[in-house]
This record gives sequence, structure tokens and C-alpha cells, in this order.
Amino acid sequence: MGPPGAGKGTQGARLAEWLGVPRFSTGDMLREARRAGTELGERARRYMDAGELVPDEVILGLIDETLRGADASRGFILDGFPRTEAQAEGLGDVLERRGESLDAVVDLQVPEEELIRRLSARRVCPECGAVWSAEELESDEEGVPCPECSAGVEQREDDRPETVRRRLEVHRTQTAPVLAWYAASDVPVVTVPGTGPVSQVQRRLRERLTEGAGT
Ligand code: AP5
Repeated sequence: MGPPGAGKGTQGARLAEWLGVPRFSTGDMLREARRAGTELGERARRYMDAGELVPDEVILGLIDETLRGADASRGFILDGFPRTEAQAEGLGDVLERRGESLDAVVDLQVPEEELIRRLSARRVCPECGAVWSAEELESDEEGVPCPECSAGVEQREDDRPETVRRRLEVHRTQTAPVLAWYAASDVPVVTVPGTGPVSQVQRRLRERLTEGAGT
């Protein structure tokens, strides 16, 4: 968990590779559904473009279906889910049916000025899905070639300043309370500063999660 731009995708992908488990990002799944033009994608579009949360029942259906279809026998990382108390409760039900439980909830913390800076500089590749920052690309123009596949990079529609402001507010009012909900449960909440170089944040995360596992 963490606000928009905290590095959930960046760190989650590295953590998943390290642990050898799949990562399920509800944001990525919704964007994929939009690209494929499915009914789900069309339904999600207006919420996402406005910086609002997609309704809980849609997200819970998506997660349930994904976990049923995936090879998640060695565990999995959830990125950007749950974002409301109803989603956290729904996840609890799904896990109980599967005979599983959460090992930890990670709270990635980054100050708001840094989040705004990161989101306005984020560029994504529409072809291979790679995520870059304008600094890494040494240009803040859209259309510069993706270093992975050479397609022209784009700015995410919801990374425009007015939508970013709304996403941050939605996080403050609807998602941050979920952390308090978990803190009052049996699931360990691991708080990790998300600032500094990506490799340093990843190191902190691995250390904290290893401590949490008692190994
Ligand atoms: P989603 O795509 O999940 O958006 P988000 O939560 O707003 O998170 P972001 O993807 O913006 O940021 P991130 O934390 O993954 O950061 P990243 O690693 O990319 O969701 C989009 C929308 O879908 C939502 O608004 C909502 O409408 C809907 N949705 C999704 N899940 C939902 C749910 N569960 N319920 C309801 N609706 C849902 O990094 C950001 C940038 O910073 C990148 O450019 C990166 O290169 C850079 N960066 C990363 N780490 C560092 C670092 N350490 N130093 C400098 N730069 C860094």
C-alpha cells in the first residue's frame, strides 16, 4: 500500500522477482482491460480518468477471478489493493476460502511534494508497459523512444495535475484508513520510507520483510 507515485509498482515488481511469486496490480489489470476494450475496461474508464476509485464489487470480482486462474501456490504480492475497508474485508473472505492469510501489509511512505514530482515526471510505454521517469529518459517530452522497445512513451492520462490532486485526496480519505484497519488486526503492518534511490528502498523493504518473517 502507499499513495499514488509511492513506488508500489516499481518496488512490487522487484520484490516479486526476488521472491519468485506473481504480482497482481489492480491498476495494471484495469489498464489492460481498457486496452483490450472489454466491458470491465469501459466501466472502469470514467472512474480512473477522474482519479476516483473503481467500485468495490468490480475490484473484488477481478481479484477473485485472477487468484482462481493464476498459479499462486507459492504466494503472491498484491499491488494497489485493497484500497477501501470493504475491499480489505472482501480480501479476507477470499483468502479464508483459499485457506490462506496475509503475511504482511507494506506501507510505503513518501512526502506529498515528492509524489507530485514523480507523477508529473512519469512516462509509460504503451507497447511493453515499462515505466520510466523523465530523468531516466533525459527528456520530459512524450514520444521519446522507450529504452526497452523503442515505442514512443506517453504520460498516463491520470498523471495530469488536476487528476493527481484528486487521487491524492482519495488516498487520504478512503485508502489511508485501511492501514489503521489492518493495524487493529493480526496482520503485521510494515512501514518503509519510500524515498531515496530505488535500490535503497528495495533493500529496506527486503530487510523489513525478512525481519517480519523472523528469519
Ligand atoms: P494505480 O495504477 O494502482 O495507481 P496508483 O495507486 O495511483 O499508483 P501509481 O501507479 O500512480 O504509483 P505507484 O505507487 O505504483 O508508483 P510507481 O512505481 O509507478 O491505479 C490507477 C487507478 O486505477 C486508480 O486511480 C483507480 O481509479 C483504479 N484502481 C486501481 N486499483 C484499485 C482498487 N484496488 N480499487 C479501486 N480502484 C482502483 O512510481 C511512480 C513514478 O516514480 C515512476 O515514474 C517511477 O519511475 C518513479 N519512482 C519510483 N520509485 C522512485 C524512487 N525511489 N525515486 C525516484 N523516482 C521513483
